[in-house]
Amino acid sequence: MPSPNVTKGAKAKGKTGAKASAIWGGRFAAGPSAVMAAINASISFDRRLYAQDIAASKAHCAMLARQGIIAKADARAIAKGLDAIKTEIEAGRFPFKTELEDIHMNIEARLAEKIGAKAGRLHTARSRNDQVATDFRLWVRDAIDRADRGLAAFQAALLARAGEHAATVMPGFTHLQSAQPVTFGHHLLAYVEMAERDRGRFADARKRLNESPLGAAALAGTSFPIDRHATAKALGFERPMANSLDAVSDRDFALEFLAAAAIAAVHLSRLAEELVLWTTPQFGFVALSDAFTTGSSIMPQKRNPDAAELVRAKSGRVIGALNALLIVMKGLPLAYGKDMQDDKEPVFEAADTLELGLAAMTGMVADLAVNETRMREAAGAGHATATDLADWLVRKLGMPFRQAHHVTGRIVRLAEARGLGIEELSLAELRVVEPGITAEVHRVLGVRRSVQSRTSFGGTAPANVRKAVTAAALRLRKRGMG
Ligand code: ARG
Repeated sequence: MPSPNVTKGAKAKGKTGAKASAIWGGRFAAGPSAVMAAINASISFDRRLYAQDIAASKAHCAMLARQGIIAKADARAIAKGLDAIKTEIEAGRFPFKTELEDIHMNIEARLAEKIGAKAGRLHTARSRNDQVATDFRLWVRDAIDRADRGLAAFQAALLARAGEHAATVMPGFTHLQSAQPVTFGHHLLAYVEMAERDRGRFADARKRLNESPLGAAALAGTSFPIDRHATAKALGFERPMANSLDAVSDRDFALEFLAAAAIAAVHLSRLAEELVLWTTPQFGFVALSDAFTTGSSIMPQKRNPDAAELVRAKSGRVIGALNALLIVMKGLPLAYGKDMQDDKEPVFEAADTLELGLAAMTGMVADLAVNETRMREAAGAGHATATDLADWLVRKLGMPFRQAHHVTGRIVRLAEARGLGIEELSLAELRVVEPGITAEVHRVLGVRRSVQSRTSFGGTAPANVRKAVTAAALRLRKRGMG
């Protein structure tokens, strides 16, 4: 609809030659066309797809020749040209052009500069829609493999420390209040398990991702006699995607990657938070190495856990990326919509952030110094072995657990009134509350005995932890380091 307040002259100039808006056009040489280029171009970020784009183009081109759709000589020239372009990009000599919008058109235009008009045959039976879907799947597949390697290295670092500290006693917390003593090794193994499930989520996403959209063309398929099975195989996909509309229009593979990444980032963030707490003088459980801390410009005594804080903070970006792409996708009718060009930046950012966070956490875990004395002292504070006392009353005096809980509560109250720990009360004092108690009770009240007694499957007893470390190390070796 022509707008009534636009003059004929302005309209004629509108497309290319319009003057920049006096209000907001300061940084633009021209009018709307420059704005359009700015919003439309993706080359600033999708250049990261260059290797995948070239691999997919080579597979497509070889298939076109085999099917007799293009001449073999043309296919050879195209493949050679694409290899030369890859070398140019990797040497930093490629002339990226914003006016060519994206990586696909930049490469294709460069190919034409190199080999002439036959370059135009490459795009037979293909659209940028299936092209970008293919490139992006290949990129995310590599990102999954990198995340898996990062998680495996993180697990290896945790396992090494868990083995050293299978019997190191620390307070276990609920509500961040001392609950029951646990071993530091057991605590670290909890993160090994989380990382294992993270790897499982990535592996699972990879299986569903690994189908080829190539050959779906714009949305409907093509009338050329292409062989989608061949291109799928050449690119390491299990099979071609079954539906051409689905192939160009879903980004669930990217969402699954982001969901797995967000959960992994949350796991890292929780450990980061614990490191921040544990390195305070108030806790003093661990010290981070110089490699992962910074000093203060004003307070000479300080050693700040910046890397841990940043891992904690950056989990927000990964969670944000998942949100961003879910919202991009939620209202899109089939098939391709340009909205989907906005799928890449969140995925790139999340992948980079997760990789860096994993490397930082792996480094911190490998380097940290453990203050076993502080941990043991803190483990004994706050009547941490009260549950052991209650269990003893059940086992030795045959008391119902509820009654034992009540008796123990009264002993805790007595200890508190006297300003002592329950293990410091004399037998006579304990007997005031429960006459059946014998001297033997003192055997279960120390923190070391407490953890030694937790031998149920998955429990914190040092013997269990040693077995669990061996089992997890074996699993890690079998599954491979990624
Ligand atoms: N740069 C585009 C993207 O990332 C490529 C696909 C463009 N397709 C199109 N029909 N305009 O989504």
